Amino acid sequence: MKQIELRLDLNSLGPTVDPNIYGHFAEHLGRGIYEGLWVGEESSIPNTRGLRDDVVGALRELKIPVLRWPGGCFADEYHWKDGVGPREQRPSILNTHWGRVVENNHFGTHEFFDLCELLGAKPYVCGNVGSGTVQEMMEWVEYISSDSMSPMADWRRRNGREQPWKLPFFGVGNESWGCGGNMRPEYYADEFRRYNTFVKNYGGNRVYRIACGANSHDLQWTEVLMDRAREQMDGLSLHYYTLCAGWPPQGSATRFTLEEWSAVMAAALEMDRLLCDHIAIMDRYDPERKVGLLVDEWGTWFECEPDSTPGFLYQQNSVRDAVVAAATLHIFHRHADRVVMANIAQLVNVLQAVILTDGPRMLRTPTYWVFQMLQRHQGGRVVPAAFDAPVCDIGGKKFPAMSVSATQDAVGDMLMSLVNLDPSQDYELRLEWDTPVRGLVLSAPDMTAHNTFERPDLVSPSELEVTSTSGTANFTLPRHSVVTLATSAGS
Ligand code: AHR
Repeated sequence: MKQIELRLDLNSLGPTVDPNIYGHFAEHLGRGIYEGLWVGEESSIPNTRGLRDDVVGALRELKIPVLRWPGGCFADEYHWKDGVGPREQRPSILNTHWGRVVENNHFGTHEFFDLCELLGAKPYVCGNVGSGTVQEMMEWVEYISSDSMSPMADWRRRNGREQPWKLPFFGVGNESWGCGGNMRPEYYADEFRRYNTFVKNYGGNRVYRIACGANSHDLQWTEVLMDRAREQMDGLSLHYYTLCAGWPPQGSATRFTLEEWSAVMAAALEMDRLLCDHIAIMDRYDPERKVGLLVDEWGTWFECEPDSTPGFLYQQNSVRDAVVAAATLHIFHRHADRVVMANIAQLVNVLQAVILTDGPRMLRTPTYWVFQMLQRHQGGRVVPAAFDAPVCDIGGKKFPAMSVSATQDAVGDMLMSLVNLDPSQDYELRLEWDTPVRGLVLSAPDMTAHNTFERPDLVSPSELEVTSTSGTANFTLPRHSVVTLATSAGS
């Protein structure tokens, strides 16, 4: 087995990993909100004010820092006033993007903020630029965050919420270059300036305003937005999905070949080049890095599961997704001096979900366990790690086989995560380290392994055997795995 030496340099700490890099995204799409999170107060599934207890309980363990809602494409056809007041009086609308199903608006502003409070997550609301008005957006912000005796705040009070909520993050449109209105960047830059003018701060609330950013490699979008609107924005977003063979999404989430494994790894690692390219543009306009970059949609996108409703984007989640998730989070750590938030798509039952449900049953996916194992990176300082990265070669397609990221927290504890992107090769690791560490490993014998409702714990973390000898920690990094090593306070 190949041996790899690993060294950490605790004397030259890098930037802080913004906890919001571990953010999530929930859209009105398929069974993401309805069934996945919201079952209603009358449901036989145990719930708190309509929000299912099992899912909320599992999500609370992830310490989700921020949750983006209501879309996605849905955000630009969402009219928030339809989703407040007595539920039985709320109008139904058609969800034209996702299956043309009827949306009954039972999950609206109050339910979303309730969910955030239960999760302990900061809310990130995405406003409607594509089919909504400036007035509508302005009134939504007032409804949520005003503490005055104003018409919208009074309406909120009549609907049962006396105190304003904190509204820390607000997105001015979603994918305005596509489903959000098919705009050119010059046009959107002006629209952003106009809508954003009316996103007001009420009382002590300070809204971080996020401009809709580019579709993956569209550097021109970033160029124009930074040129024309950087003074008005706090952050600019970016969307990038890991696809198996380009658009449209192809390939199964659980039945794939070694070549497809390698294509997905290459696509995931592309995130690094993408960030370098967009950040280089941002640096030209904003060398002081005042504008944050938010990758507010990312993750794998495969074909829907064969027996699921088309348009609902329900896909299973395997060891491959876990490897993609950890490698991608490492890339965000590397760019932590510009990337201030990232939101994996999507929370429950949609795309690279952390939770899947089936009626009253639920399971944690391999991606869930990655967020669980890596959560202590939130808020840590990046510790440079040195090693000779092995290369994986599958049919002539080469990519780095190993990714490592380490952080140190405020009390001096360290978390190191390692990803083996090679589907066939184990590595023997030798880390120069003399403090006791606790190791966890997430893997399975098969690269396509995934959790099912019959075997919900097939892919879940287990203790990693670590042997310590004269100032080194030795352990195996198995093929297609994610490993963490942690020191704990007092050790
Ligand atoms: O996450 C699914 C969709 O992907 C979102 O609605 C949209 O913003 C993106 O194209």
